[in-house]
Amino acid sequence: MKKKPQSHRIATSDDIEVSAYLELARELRGEQPVVEPESPPAERETIVVLDFGSQYSMLIARRVRECHVYCELVPYDTPWEKIAPLNPRGFILSGGPASVYDAGAPLPLPYIYEQRLPVMGICYGMLAVAYELGGEIARGPKHEYGHTILHLSSEDSPLLAGLPSSLPVWMSHGDQVMELPPGFRSLAYTENSPFAVIGSEHGIYGLQFHPEVVHTAYGKTIFQNFVLQICGCQGNWTPANFIAESIDKIKAQVGDGRVVCALSGGVDSAVAATLIDRAIGNKLTCIFINNGLLRRDEPERVLNTFKRNLKMDVVYVDATGRFLDGLAGVTDPEKKRQLVGNEFIRIFEEEAAKLGIIDFLAQGTLYPDVIESTSPETKAAHKIKSHHNVGGLPAKMRFKLIEPLRYLFKDEVREVGLALGLPEDMIWRQPFPGPGLSIRIIGEVTREKLDILRSADWILMNEVKKAKLYRQLWQSFVVLTDVKSVGVMGDYRTYGYLIAVRAITSEDAMTADWARLPHDLLAGISHRIVNEVPGVNRVVYDITGKPPATIEWE
Ligand code: XMP
Repeated sequence: MKKKPQSHRIATSDDIEVSAYLELARELRGEQPVVEPESPPAERETIVVLDFGSQYSMLIARRVRECHVYCELVPYDTPWEKIAPLNPRGFILSGGPASVYDAGAPLPLPYIYEQRLPVMGICYGMLAVAYELGGEIARGPKHEYGHTILHLSSEDSPLLAGLPSSLPVWMSHGDQVMELPPGFRSLAYTENSPFAVIGSEHGIYGLQFHPEVVHTAYGKTIFQNFVLQICGCQGNWTPANFIAESIDKIKAQVGDGRVVCALSGGVDSAVAATLIDRAIGNKLTCIFINNGLLRRDEPERVLNTFKRNLKMDVVYVDATGRFLDGLAGVTDPEKKRQLVGNEFIRIFEEEAAKLGIIDFLAQGTLYPDVIESTSPETKAAHKIKSHHNVGGLPAKMRFKLIEPLRYLFKDEVREVGLALGLPEDMIWRQPFPGPGLSIRIIGEVTREKLDILRSADWILMNEVKKAKLYRQLWQSFVVLTDVKSVGVMGDYRTYGYLIAVRAITSEDAMTADWARLPHDLLAGISHRIVNEVPGVNRVVYDITGKPPATIEWE
């Protein structure tokens, strides 16, 4: 068992004072005391989640938001100067792949103790805190992965209030606490971890398991206990408050300027545009480009919603011809993506130029995009596909950016959209790729193939909605393959296209599982497609997850 060098240990009684933590933190870092922030704290209460590289970090942030408390996920070494303006009410430290004894292991900065705010370390986050405060960490007798039963050893811990005496939790760790830091006690244990939950009387907690994953029973209760009871947050991060706050912010940001926004028909750009419209009315112009690659009735539906229902100023551009001419003869998936993306930007720029002087470009960027763009791993990630969407217009355009959804998760965007009065079918619309149906036709895109695809897609959508599965599926769509096969219909030989049906479940599109659709539903879909769509004589169901496949076929 490895021990931390004695010089790093704190010499105190069990009755440790918070100030001792502070001294320890400084001693460990060899740093001067942190200067109190000069600016007054913001009104909004925030939980700061420090990211140590866990695959579940984003889930932690989502769980906090589900308690109606605002939180931000930041790299573990974010300096206090950047944290202070957030007005933090507590810190959560994520798990991570490192071991505290690794050379250069990521460790929390001293301010998490110095601010005297509640702290909850999860998995590696717990070990890092225990290590810094003088506990002993070592490889456990056994690695624990997956379900484990947790037994409470304390009845009076506010963190575990409302939990039964034993419950299943989700573990994923190798190292564990072997000796508690001074001032801590064990609040719960498992068969292999005597210190599965630890706490000090000053509100510093550690959980060896992952309360953020759905497999941990009562995970939500633990988060509620921490953020509402222990950190004392009010839980007033609601759509109504967000809308009021955003409208004020947009008004202040835009002033007398003018804003342009590209609509895609999807929920993100729709909510962003509606929010901006509420703030600045006719100083916003929306542009909706029909690229000829949308689903049946989609352009009409989008226009109706915005022009008629929401009374918004929309410039409609039917550029079908330009897109389809550009795609003629192109079969390579990446070329298709680039062509559609570039043409979209060209048309958008032309239309925006016609509007006169525009100062801002509105984008429907969401929080996961913001987090990913700050993560070094993502930057280095191997490119699988070049994504194009209306939220991804190039920064080289001469506008300043306005991104009202920058700090929201998708489910929060939906809640805000509903509170803004957007129609339910727009709010719950499944994601649709920027390059549209061009990447759901394998091989060359032609008008004839688009017609076939649209008809089959329409049938699938109707059947899935009739089966009341539309909202449960992340996506459901059809792909027109370039395979033709032999069939027999009414005693005649046919030689027709093969359609693939794809339906998946997912939390965030990073990974996905193929949906176990009922066989009767699949039979009905296949029957209707083959009978109602001329040129198609065979239907297959895609039973591949992501990875190894991607969600779209191209
Ligand atoms: P893949 O196929 O990469 O898709 O597993 C992941 C998610 O992204 C959607 N997708 C796109 N969305 N522009 C978009 O806005 C794109 O170019 C694009 N390509 C794929 C896809 O539908 C899935 O939800």
